[in-house]
Amino acid sequence: RALLRRLWKGDASARMLHPRLQKAMGAYLRANKHGVRFRGRRAAGRSRTELLCALRGRVQVRTLDGTEPPFSALGWRALVPPVPLSRLLPRGLRTCAVVTSAGAILNSSLGEEIDSHDAVLRFNSAPTRGYEKDVGNKTTLRIINSQILTNPSYHFMDSALYKDVILVAWDPAPYSANLNLWYKRPDYNLFTPYVQHRQRNPNQPFYILHPKFIWQLWDIIQENTKEKIQPNPPSSGFIGILLMMNLCGEVHVYEYVPSVRQTDLCHYHEPYHDAACTLGAYHPLLYEKLLVQRLNVGSQGDLHRKGKVVLPGLQAVRC
Ligand code: C5P
Repeated sequence: RALLRRLWKGDASARMLHPRLQKAMGAYLRANKHGVRFRGRRAAGRSRTELLCALRGRVQVRTLDGTEPPFSALGWRALVPPVPLSRLLPRGLRTCAVVTSAGAILNSSLGEEIDSHDAVLRFNSAPTRGYEKDVGNKTTLRIINSQILTNPSYHFMDSALYKDVILVAWDPAPYSANLNLWYKRPDYNLFTPYVQHRQRNPNQPFYILHPKFIWQLWDIIQENTKEKIQPNPPSSGFIGILLMMNLCGEVHVYEYVPSVRQTDLCHYHEPYHDAACTLGAYHPLLYEKLLVQRLNVGSQGDLHRKGKVVLPGLQAVRC
């Protein structure tokens, strides 16, 4: 609870985490499995406006477009959707919702508010059926990690969760963003099911995020954090928030920075408890959330009661 209050105020530190999570973080720092080498400069004291300008100037949503090796030689130019993700949604999206999968969204009654947005982003296998009152039932986009495509238990090819929505997949690539290396040794081989899905469903927009975009986001989190963050990609939640800040006039994020309902229940749709889901072990989640808290233009009341953060779209930011 003390940590929650510090998160709301924006001055939490990893030193406040449970020793088990601190230990896990330390192990990831030592392993540096993706070969991260931070070359940027720390700029931890930026104001909200300065931060927004830095984001606007630096964050470039990129997806694989088939023009770079090895994908160019594999015929991916004709395989990827003809319309880029950045031009797929109408320009005039006023407000968008990002709905995290946190257990704390249970009993929130946020469903109606979430559905009132022009577009709704959800993550991985998070369902709406049976949870409409709390999470709504509209889904415009879904961000999926490579495990969703490769682990048979998700039934990626058949499940209704992944139909009639824009799909955006990602996989942790090396920090160097060397596409040849990544193609040979992805974390989970999402490339084969991606090709198969594109061939079977050519009309469904389905993109793979470019590793440069993912690691650009990591650089920005580290740049704006005093502590050394985990050398692992940001969570799907953070990736989705920045994606929507590029596409929408305003972004309303639900249960990312936790509300008073904060719980160790990892996902609202699964009976599994682990504080790491909310505070991070692999992902630099605590630092992501501190950064997002600093960008919040919504009220403290909405933050505490709804777990809602309101972020300006990046197009409208004047620098
Ligand atoms: O676990 P999963 O990645 O599918 O959840 C989607 C996103 O929701 C996470 O990447 C994370 O950003 C956010 N989340 C959270 N707290 C939780 C569970 C998920 O902030 N307890």
